[in-house]
Formats: sequence, structure tokens, C-alpha cells
Amino acid sequence: MSRDDRQSAVASASYHVGARRAYVETMTLIIAVANQKGGVGKTTTVVNLAQASAAHGLRVLMIDADPQASLTIYAGADPRALEAEGRTIHHWLLEDRTPDEVIVPTGTGGADLLPSSIRFASAESELLSAWNGASLLRERMGSLVEQAGSGDRRRRYDLVLIDCCPSLGLLTVNALAAAHQVLVPVKTDYLSLMGVSLLLETVERVRARLNPGLEIMGVLPTMYDRRNAHDREALDELIELLGERQRVFTPIGRSTVFDQASVEGVATLISRPEHKALDGYREIVARLTRRTAGERREEVTIDGR
Ligand SMILES: Nc1ncnc2c1ncn2[C@@H]1O[C@H](COP(=O)(O)OP(=O)(O)O)[C@@H](O)[C@H]1O
Ligand SMILES: [Mg+2]
Repeated sequence: MSRDDRQSAVASASYHVGARRAYVETMTLIIAVANQKGGVGKTTTVVNLAQASAAHGLRVLMIDADPQASLTIYAGADPRALEAEGRTIHHWLLEDRTPDEVIVPTGTGGADLLPSSIRFASAESELLSAWNGASLLRERMGSLVEQAGSGDRRRRYDLVLIDCCPSLGLLTVNALAAAHQVLVPVKTDYLSLMGVSLLLETVERVRARLNPGLEIMGVLPTMYDRRNAHDREALDELIELLGERQRVFTPIGRSTVFDQASVEGVATLISRPEHKALDGYREIVARLTRRTAGERREEVTIDGR
């Protein structure tokens, strides 16, 4: 794909400005964290944003939508045991289990988890044969984010973060169709940049056919080493490619603290809150918590009006 092609693909997926937002701010904010490349920091991003937002008092649900179940393992749950008990995303989405049967609560101050397991890999083909295969998650989301039982539709979570799998197949399309916003972590190397336009084209298609309100929250450069010339060039290219049209957040630094944190099962933003590599995560958490604080002051606000 030439540079011009890439730029036009990005332009067509550009940020909706001024348009009336498709969700009212008093609703649960649903963010899909997506990139079809593996190893770019999706799961790490979900854990850090979820745990830090929960520590700020938000009610947060993390959805593991990846059959590899990295998020489930990171959160300290056992995918095989949960699968044996019928308590995974597959059982909720395709086998009519209730949210209360599948959600793993992590208690006060923590983020809840809707876990995954390898069984979810078969969902791709099951969804293909369902008439509503691209929008099943969207249809079922209400049951997940609203308080069970009561008829008053009180919301159960302020924030839902969906950890997508590394593909642009139906599982990711379901996440994009169910979300209000998509956050795109991108590793700062050339090969990773190549994939961004393809993802943004997919976002555009989902917006056109399934979810007109879908917004691109922004692109988050990850694993960035400012001492490395290749990283600096890749970041410059990313900003040049997207800067005018998409928000590019402060890059997450490359650091071994992330691997240590995944072993400990605690987000780096919780265990080492002052670490310099985390500025980008802090920036996003501040946005998420501001949104909720503003909303408490003003009962119903439609952004941009
Ligand atoms: N900023 C970072 N610097 C260094 N390593 C990181 C960083 N973010 C994540 N990692 C590590 O990179 C690996 C892949 O990250 P992960 O979040 O699982 O990516 P994905 O979900 O996109 O596959 C993990 O071992 C993780 O600990
Ligand atoms: Mg992952």
C-alpha cells in the first residue's frame, strides 16, 4: 500500500467532529481495544486502564474477547477451570448463561472480568452461521451492563473495556459493533504502522454497516524507546499519517516493568504509579475519570452540544 493510499484510508476513517454523539454520557462507556497484530500491548492496555480507573472509583468490567485468554490469566483466573464450569464469554454469548453466572467479580476497588478460554475460538465459525453473527455482542451488551433483575435499567458499570483478539475476523467485528469508541495500541515500528490503515478501514466498514456512532478514541503508541532512532522515526511517521485526523496519545515507553507486572497480576499503573513509561496511560485514565466526574455534576449531557 502506498503512502497516499494509506493516507486516504485514514482520512476516510477520520474522527467525527461536531456530530451529535451516538451515546448519552450517562450510559456505560464501552471501549474496544483493538489491533489485528498480536503483541502490540492490547491486553496490557486493558489491564492498566481498567485497574487504574477502578482505583479512581469507576465501576469497570474487562471483557476478554480473545480465545488466547491472556487477560483472563493476567487477572489471576484459570481459563480451563472456568471453561469446565461453563463460566466464560462463550457460555454467555452463545449458550445463554446469565452475566452473573459468568462474570468473575474482583471485589471493591477492582475491575470485574468476563473471562475467555480457548473454546471461544469456535465462536468465529458459530457466528458465521448465525443471522446476527456480526452484532450478537452488541445485542447482548445491555444484559451485561445493566443491573440484573430490576426493571429500572440502572447501569452496573461506568466503563467496559473489550480486549480484542489479534485478527480482523468476526470476533473483532462484534467488539467494534458493540463499542462506543475504539482505542488502537500501535507498536512504534514500521511493520506495525502498516496494519493501522487496514484496521481503520475495518472501523469505517463497521461504522457504515453496523454501528454509525463508533468513534476512534485515538491511537496509542506502545513499547516506544526514545533512544532508538527507528522508534523515533516510526512515531514521526505515525503522527504524520494520523496526527491531523486522529488523536495520538503520549507514547507508552518500552520497559521490562510490564513483564514483571504480568507475572505479579497487578497493572503497572497500580504497582509503580509514578513510572515515566506510563504517562500515556495516566493521560487516558484522566480522560475517563473526568468524563464520569463531569457526568455526576450534570445528569444528562450530550457531548459537543
Ligand atoms: N510498553 C511495553 N514495554 C515493554 N513490554 C511491553 C509493553 N507493553 C506490553 N509489553 C509486553 O509485551 C507482551 C505483549 O503485550 P500484550 O499486552 O499481551 O499484547 P497483545 O495483547 O496486543 O498481544 C507482553 O509480554 C507484555 O508484558
Ligand atoms: Mg492480548
